Amino acid sequence: MEQYVIKGGTPLKGEVEIGGAKNAALAILAAAIMTEDTVRISNVPDVRDTNVLLGAIQDIGATVTREDKNTVVINGAGIHTYSVDYDYVNKIRASYYLLGSMLGRFKKAEVALPGGCDIGSRPIDLHIKGFKALGAEVDISYGLISAKADRLVGNHIYLDKVSVGATINILMAAVLAEGKTVIDNAAREPHVVDVANFLNSMGADIRGAGTESIRINGVSKLHGTDYSVIPDQIEAGTFLFAGVATGGDVTVKNVIPKHLEATTSKLLETGCKVIEFDDAVRVIAAKPYNQTSVTTLPYPGFPTDMQPQMAVVLALANGVSTVTESIFESRFKYVDELARMGASMQVEGNVAIIKGVDKLTGARVQAPDLRAGAALVIAGLAAEGVTIVDDIHYIQRGYELFHEKLQKLGATIEKTSTDKEIQKFILKVS
Ligand code: UD1
Repeated sequence: MEQYVIKGGTPLKGEVEIGGAKNAALAILAAAIMTEDTVRISNVPDVRDTNVLLGAIQDIGATVTREDKNTVVINGAGIHTYSVDYDYVNKIRASYYLLGSMLGRFKKAEVALPGGCDIGSRPIDLHIKGFKALGAEVDISYGLISAKADRLVGNHIYLDKVSVGATINILMAAVLAEGKTVIDNAAREPHVVDVANFLNSMGADIRGAGTESIRINGVSKLHGTDYSVIPDQIEAGTFLFAGVATGGDVTVKNVIPKHLEATTSKLLETGCKVIEFDDAVRVIAAKPYNQTSVTTLPYPGFPTDMQPQMAVVLALANGVSTVTESIFESRFKYVDELARMGASMQVEGNVAIIKGVDKLTGARVQAPDLRAGAALVIAGLAAEGVTIVDDIHYIQRGYELFHEKLQKLGATIEKTSTDKEIQKFILKVS
């Protein structure tokens, strides 16, 4: 098992290059098999989740070649099965995007019920509702979801809850359905727009992505394309928040500043300085910075994937803050770990009440999931002394070269895999 060992207390300073958006890439890789032509996708983050999905795509018969670390070339002409193995789906929830993409292209698909980060119950009723509305028969048995149709026909679909996954999955199936589909109360996240742009570059006819009403005119076939994934707003936000929590000055490069507005506006409220450039954002921490209140909401609201990182920032703010989680019910699992580092947080239902403290102190903590894991690393960077974050395989699901990028900003952080290496690090830094 690997861990990050951190000697905290150094303000992070400098510039960091942000990679492609993991959540956009996952949907785009799944959509790439919707044609028998070749598709080239660049700016794909080289992280565990994208690599698992590429494995699943290869396993069903597509060819996957890597031009370089972040560019993949996919050809789905040789797909010979419409069934995705449990091993993949168990590792990443987003393998369920293959349901929408295969249903669209082959009119049949079978995928095991999804796993993923344990951040609360994560139903897929809305995906199923959408597939059924397009004329598919959907069956759940023996731990599998299977969907099939003689033909898919466009329909008007209202999503009872805003769901990124359901919006994208239904969108993919509808692209190759006959006639017009309207998805209302659709998710507006930047990655939904990116998937729609990708599909349009393959010959789809999708309008309104990024609004709550997406209109799709079905086409009979899609063709190859060459496409670059958008920058990762969550990776960018994580580095900015690490800069603030350590009292530093960090610039994230290769970002779309508009996508970061929900997070940077919260930093402005705390008194930090935010400077926007065309494709970069710089944040200079106020010392000390002030409390604020945050509620997670679908885009353009504050992203739930930045909630744990925000809580760490607020754990060191002046005054009492609240963080309300309105998307996933079990997203406060990191609170006990943070408390062990000296944070003062109390959770009541879906609200965390955070009393800012002057300092955190290093401890051995466990990453409970991807974003909470990143938040614990931020806490370690800001804390006095040495922090060891265990279970970093969660963090590796979504952050490419995480500790290397932090090192470039001046952090004292290393990846270790044995007690001996941990002891060596502690001796070196003490
Ligand atoms: C995606 C992101 C995840 C992010 C989340 C919210 C990917 C791979 N993952 O997850 O990182 O935290 O969006 O921004 O892109 N819901 C239902 N029924 C459904 C589907 C969802 O009730 O059929 C509920 C969920 O329980 C949740 C809410 O809708 O409360 C939003 O979930 P959703 O947007 O679907 O999240 P994911 O697509 O799973």
